[in-house]
Amino acid sequence: MIDLRSDTATRPTAGMRRAIAEAIVGDEQKREDPTVLELERRGAALLGQQEAVYLPTATMANQIALRILTEPGDELLAEENSHVLLSELGGPAVHSGLVTRGLPGVAGRFSPDQIRAAFRDRSSMHVSPTRLVVIEDTHNSSGGRVWPTAEIEAIARTCEELELRLHLDGARLANAAVASGVSCAEIGRHFDTVTLCLSKALGCPLGALLAGSPERMAKARRNKHLFGGAMRQAGIVAAAGLYALDHHLERIGEDHLRARRLAEGLAEAGLPIDLEQVETNFVQLDLAPLGLPRGEALQRLAEAGVGLSTTVYPTKLRAVTHLDVSDEDVDRALEAIPRALGVLVRV
Ligand SMILES: Cc1ncc(COP(=O)(O)O)c(C=O)c1O
Repeated sequence: MIDLRSDTATRPTAGMRRAIAEAIVGDEQKREDPTVLELERRGAALLGQQEAVYLPTATMANQIALRILTEPGDELLAEENSHVLLSELGGPAVHSGLVTRGLPGVAGRFSPDQIRAAFRDRSSMHVSPTRLVVIEDTHNSSGGRVWPTAEIEAIARTCEELELRLHLDGARLANAAVASGVSCAEIGRHFDTVTLCLSKALGCPLGALLAGSPERMAKARRNKHLFGGAMRQAGIVAAAGLYALDHHLERIGEDHLRARRLAEGLAEAGLPIDLEQVETNFVQLDLAPLGLPRGEALQRLAEAGVGLSTTVYPTKLRAVTHLDVSDEDVDRALEAIPRALGVLVRV
């Protein structure tokens, strides 16, 4: 199957497997694993922060960030379809006792004025104090959209002025950096904490980094243990992270070019694709004009050997390019998808 369901589908390459096999390891929980320590050192520099903590998943990284930046009863503002609000099982309420408020977004983005309008008076003895803002870059549910750096800077200035903390869910920050031509560090330095996922565009089997100040990362390490995420010989998987930083960062642009080619080819074949949405490695396909229920569409696509996935929008499917999708896969998908969905390919 050509697996375009998600960029989490990548499997470790031969080179990455060699790096895993040769990893020098120690007890990570005691901070004695040299490979983990090296990944944390390089991760902090990459993300424009002083320190980083290696974690099993980006969900855990986000949830620890929320926990260390807030007190129970505080309010969190994020775009209404963001991963922390929609796809982490109510974690902000469960793990940190937060009240959450979703801001309507355009391409996953919101404005300083929306923050000001939502901000609640912290001196009140009745309302939950607004404490934290979360930005997601790239923004998953809007189709891998990128925040312009000027807009991030404006949000950061507003948060500073209102004494709000700011977290970046940069699970796909590397895609945002490549697409905008601005380094991860230049983006990441505007935030109190930054999450980076290693198992998406970077192609690792697992792993994420949370970065921030040394004081905050000391708290993050305590919470890592509390959440059950402190590990032992984790250098085995951290070696994949180091390998990815050396070999998989630069190539992310190839995924974006393939997504663009896929989107243009599908649009050319008559499928309803919004080409403006394709900024990184996601392509969204709207089934509404085709009158096909999404279950049936997914079934037909699977039978044709192509995996797509659903989105938060009931009529939209998603195709995602990644390390394991080649130019030939894109060619085959361009043949198979229009046929499976009953669209005649123009010749
Ligand atoms: C924007 C965003 N944040 C966080 C995550 C969580 O990643 P993980 O599956 O590593 O927990 C995802 C996963 O898809 C995501 O898209």
